[in-house]
Amino acid sequence: MPYTESMTSGPVFPREVCVIGGGGHVGLPLALTFADSGLKTVIYDTDARTVETIRRGIMPFAEEGAPELLRRVLDGGLLDVTETPERMSECRFLVLVIGTPVDEHLTPSFTALNRAIDSCANSLRDGQILILRSTIFPGISEHIQKDLTARGLDIRVAFCPERVAQGHSLREIRQLPQILSAFQPETLAAVRDLFARFAHEFIEMTPMEAELCKLMTNATRYIQFAIVNQFYTIARENGLDFNRILHGCRHKYPRMEGMPGPGFAAGPCLLKDTMQLAAFSRNSFPLGHSAMLVNEGLPARLVELAQRDLDLSQKVVGVLGMAFKAESDDPRDSLSYKLRNLLALETRRVLCTDPYVPDPTLVPVERVLEEADVLFLATPHRAYRELRIPEGKVLYDVWNWIASAPA
Ligand SMILES: NC(=O)c1ccc[n+]([C@@H]2O[C@H](COP(=O)([O-])OP(=O)(O)OC[C@H]3O[C@@H](n4cnc5c(N)ncnc54)[C@H](O)[C@@H]3O)[C@@H](O)[C@H]2O)c1
Repeated sequence: MPYTESMTSGPVFPREVCVIGGGGHVGLPLALTFADSGLKTVIYDTDARTVETIRRGIMPFAEEGAPELLRRVLDGGLLDVTETPERMSECRFLVLVIGTPVDEHLTPSFTALNRAIDSCANSLRDGQILILRSTIFPGISEHIQKDLTARGLDIRVAFCPERVAQGHSLREIRQLPQILSAFQPETLAAVRDLFARFAHEFIEMTPMEAELCKLMTNATRYIQFAIVNQFYTIARENGLDFNRILHGCRHKYPRMEGMPGPGFAAGPCLLKDTMQLAAFSRNSFPLGHSAMLVNEGLPARLVELAQRDLDLSQKVVGVLGMAFKAESDDPRDSLSYKLRNLLALETRRVLCTDPYVPDPTLVPVERVLEEADVLFLATPHRAYRELRIPEGKVLYDVWNWIASAPA
């Protein structure tokens, strides 16, 4: 029975869910999960090329388990894909999951969100529930609720943040407890029913609590990475092998179990969301800002540490891995590119490679291994685990990934 028929009052909608921004890294796995749960789902995305790719049954980016699922829900008639907003008027639930960047001042930019609401306005219908799924600045749910009401629309807003790790979304969407928030108990109950189609545990909060919860989660991870990256730099600057120290910290010592290893803390979320929290605290967030200095400064520290050993100016240098994290094809906000740009100023030539990132400036790994004198491991892809570094080449491996591979 379609979800909408179970509602005893209010308008009946022919479809259950429209995911606005449904072609994106968060929106698409979520839309596939809704459709896989038997809900008639519409993807609306303004990127016509992405829409066409999805419509043809092809995933526009790497996501575990998604290619098979996409074909299945398309064949089953549960998923429609469109680049225009009209179809959203048919849907009871609208799930908005577009990018929420910070601007050149590192403060949240609301342009995309405002534009999205404006461009959807003519397709909104009384009785719909708009679920915000993007990571948003605290207070934005209330702001959007007021905006819709001021437009004369009887639409209820909920905020249910996405918490999956990109690449593992389909598994995590079903496993993780869902954070749910809304302004009325009946809206909360409706979104709980919706997410109960695939999730099993719910945490209910006020929208403001949920907005802060999501930002604080990402800021915590960002700060944790910064702590260990700072420790790595301290050890290396004093001529010590940080991996030996890290092993001593963590080995069979429960209170240090969560300590990550060093490496690039990059990508489209962690820095951006730490800066959203900094903006919310009116730039009184010294931990967050310090974390930014450490994490964003790591590529420069690595270059400086290498320059202590070698005169890089005459060297050809190779960067292994350009995605922002391992096993991903996503180069958004990857610190590998920052490292490349720094090395370009300090060396004879830089060659970059990645097994997944579709970037025409990259070259095959074999060529990097052959031509580079010095190698930096920037992204610890599995493909590099067993990499044989040719005799005479110098490897800098902040992740301790290749160096720890079995001989
Ligand atoms: N990427 C992650 O791992 C992750 C995890 C949790 C939360 N988030 C949050 O989710 C949000 C989306 O991130 P993402 O990585 O999926 O971004 P993305 O850029 O991959 O996807 C956004 C999609 O929205 C589309 N879009 C933009 N404006 C639109 C509009 N007005 N109408 C319809 N479609 C529009 C874009 O074409 C794009 O396909 C962000 O707030 C992010 O912080 C991301």
